Amino acid sequence: MNLERTKQIKAAITAVGGYVPETILSNQDLEKMVDTNDEWIVSRTGIKERRILEDPEKATSFLAIEAAQDLIATFNIDSTTIDLIIVATVTPDMPVAATAAYVASSIGANQAFAYDLSAACSGFLYGMSTSAAYINSGRYKKVLLIGADKMSSIVDYTDRTTCIIFGDGAGAVLFEPSPNEFGWEDEYMRSNGTERMSLRIKAGGSLYPTSQTTLDNGWHNLYQEGKTVFKYAVSEMAEASEQLLKRNNLSGEEIDYLVPHQANKRIVDATAKRLGLSDEKVLMNISYYGNTTAATIPLLLNDNKSNFKKGNKLIFAAFGGGFTWGASYLTWAI
Ligand code: UT7
Repeated sequence: MNLERTKQIKAAITAVGGYVPETILSNQDLEKMVDTNDEWIVSRTGIKERRILEDPEKATSFLAIEAAQDLIATFNIDSTTIDLIIVATVTPDMPVAATAAYVASSIGANQAFAYDLSAACSGFLYGMSTSAAYINSGRYKKVLLIGADKMSSIVDYTDRTTCIIFGDGAGAVLFEPSPNEFGWEDEYMRSNGTERMSLRIKAGGSLYPTSQTTLDNGWHNLYQEGKTVFKYAVSEMAEASEQLLKRNNLSGEEIDYLVPHQANKRIVDATAKRLGLSDEKVLMNISYYGNTTAATIPLLLNDNKSNFKKGNKLIFAAFGGGFTWGASYLTWAI
């Protein structure tokens, strides 16, 4: 690879889009489904409501296509010029074939190759690393990264510790060579597979193929050891972000926005506190979308895109199943 060329091409986010379904599932609705209450959910997670894609015939691809089309329309993108589409998701339409390929065909990206990326709640963060690397290398010029999850398709609505957290949604960003000096700056990525059982869908893969046993035991639903995940998330998301700031000689005051995965408001608060960030710099959408897994970060970007100014310093951070986690640093280029 031509290293000089790698250094010269800076990857930047040049377009953003998003979509959430219309149906709202409020804490009050959940009170009628499981033994919970609004006060508990708000104080423990920060969530008031989440969106649900009710139509059983619509899957994650529907959310992803809507988000991509929003980006295409808002930023006037010619879909035939897209080189690659990556869909970060834990709820692909089917185990085979890739949801991304269906999305590509549906939006007219007929020159693109396309694949799914699986890294749970860190899926979008990992996808940004991959997308930026393709641009940095000079290999491709337009990478469409979509984070999309129909979490309602895998959540057990009798498990009160899990069903209150998740919602459905999708967000999309376009990576291109930067038109200026701003864009992808640095990243700090990690994983720890020894904790894979702490946040999982146990069956339906090659370890536990679908059987009467897996069905009877509910192993096709999402399950998490809430406390274990919480403990790791609090320490690792903050640690990754702190290391990244240190490496780039940045203080909390110099950061314009923290764009954190929305798993639990308390996890985000702990990260923000460790970085010394004031509340107005911390982007949040958990109260009205819940945890949309791969979609939280691009939805934050979409909801706040009109506030960003060229040169703004953004820190992204995520933690999720795997375990997977990390942080990345980007300066806003548009
Ligand atoms: O994005 C992917 C990564 N996922 C995460 O980061 C999730 C991380 N974990 C969490 O966010 C939190 O652990 C939860 C929100 C899942 C749970 O909050 P917690 O403060 O850790 O609660 P807990 O599990 O320690 O439970 C405290 C109490 C228990 O009752 P007892 O044993 O103290 O009597 C639970 O049974 O709260 C009870 N509880 C509930 N009460 C009302 C658990 N779920 C509920 C509920 N409503 N929905």
